[in-house]
Amino acid sequence: MKNIITTILAAVALPLIASAQLKVNVSIDTTPDEQNMIPKEIYGQFAEHLGSCIYGGLWVGPDSDIPNTDGYRTDVLEALKELKVPVMRWPGGCFADEYHWRDGIGPRESRPRMVNSNWGGTVEDNSFGTHEFLNLCEILGCEPYISGNVGSGTVEELAKWVEYMTAADGPMAKLRAENGRKEPWKVKYLGVGNESWGCGGNMVPEYYSHLYNRYQTYCRDFSGNRLYKVASGASDYDYNWTEVLMKYIGKRMHGVSLHYYTVKGWDGSKGSATVFNEEEYYNTLGKAVGVEPVIVKHISIMDQYDPDNSIDLLLDEWGTWFDVEPGTNPGHLYQQNTMRDAMVAALSFNIFHKYTRRLKMANIAQIANVLQSMVLTRGDKMVLTPTYHTFRMYNVHQDAMYLPSVCDSPKFKDSHDRECPYVDVTASKNAEGKINITLTNTSLDQKADVSIEIPSLGKAELSGEILTSKNVQDHNEFDRPDTVRPVEFDDFKIKDGKIIVKMPPMSIISLSAAL
Ligand code: AHR
Repeated sequence: MKNIITTILAAVALPLIASAQLKVNVSIDTTPDEQNMIPKEIYGQFAEHLGSCIYGGLWVGPDSDIPNTDGYRTDVLEALKELKVPVMRWPGGCFADEYHWRDGIGPRESRPRMVNSNWGGTVEDNSFGTHEFLNLCEILGCEPYISGNVGSGTVEELAKWVEYMTAADGPMAKLRAENGRKEPWKVKYLGVGNESWGCGGNMVPEYYSHLYNRYQTYCRDFSGNRLYKVASGASDYDYNWTEVLMKYIGKRMHGVSLHYYTVKGWDGSKGSATVFNEEEYYNTLGKAVGVEPVIVKHISIMDQYDPDNSIDLLLDEWGTWFDVEPGTNPGHLYQQNTMRDAMVAALSFNIFHKYTRRLKMANIAQIANVLQSMVLTRGDKMVLTPTYHTFRMYNVHQDAMYLPSVCDSPKFKDSHDRECPYVDVTASKNAEGKINITLTNTSLDQKADVSIEIPSLGKAELSGEILTSKNVQDHNEFDRPDTVRPVEFDDFKIKDGKIIVKMPPMSIISLSAAL
């Protein structure tokens, strides 16, 4: 009975809270005592051999009728360049622990085929391998992040992969040159396994730690390349995993990963990506901001074992996870992307920016056609998702100085009692001294009058952009690619030394101020 009453109260609570127009004051500290940069790697991507992320999404091959540049889809390449992708993780995910890199080198026509047993049993032809991935990173100007196979591979296999990619001389360098690449690539990030507590080998943390120590010993720095080694970290609330790794691996890792998905639950339906009600909308946001206490707790454990802050935390998988689109392969995790996803991305970035003392990277899952993706493709068509637009609007914060802010927005409580602000803000100052402020109004039906106090605002030159839509379920389809897209925004003014902004419901606004 109690549960029924709680559910009814929760269901009616949302519209009651959401009746008046929001009035919100924000103050931004432009000269913080402690200066933190927002590492560009917070805006990282993840590309797994899963569904049509790689094949069809990034890669169609040079002989395809779909316009391509040396096999990479030209439309996707152009879209990704706009995002300033800083780092890309590959080849998985769960796929990584079944991937044998030697199958993906040499003439494409003679590469063996393989069954992608993690993801729908799809047969792949290995035409996208090490060369294709590392060359893509060069085209995009991003750091590669290789996820090594610990679950079903060997120490020798991983050690030789590192040598193949990065050594200037020796047998692996010779083989690489025979396959068309004389110069070694620079590869910074090396993941030693993925989700080793699950699809990566079902290990306990003590066993994984010892295995990590062994594997990493033989992953060498060749020819001036410096590896940054990442241990396969915890899922969500598994604080013991982080603690054991800190204890047994410690400084043998440069970073430890963490995975956190905005998902309703792992059993049963995860809900539709496009058909959802108000309660489900706020619950999704409630779950998304639930990443904050999780980050805080993992960091506090790391602080105990590493008080000088030398080991990083990398959230190398995050994002929304809904049911697949009707009629698509359940193993391919193809989901649409609405304004709700844009809100999740914005709120997540606002949180990530606060913890960059330790949190040095985040990789959204995934770059194309999988989960909360940047682009969706079908044949020769491509759409940019609301999440893509959010990433593009936020990329002004990459490598900029974080400016702490205070925002007195009212909060909503979702039906699991999780709190989330209606209006949220994040700000940074770039190398040219420009201040970039990104505001989010999560309310479905309330406008917000936001007053922003910035010291020495004077007669700053302001420009703005807004991402919003009529309905929160709006998304971009192949025949309607521009339903959700950012446009110029000018509903702001400077009054009494403050910026006064009128935010529509459900909007993300970026303001740029040249002081
Ligand atoms: O991103 C999809 C999958 O989610 C990844 O392969 C795995 O690491 C996680 O469970």
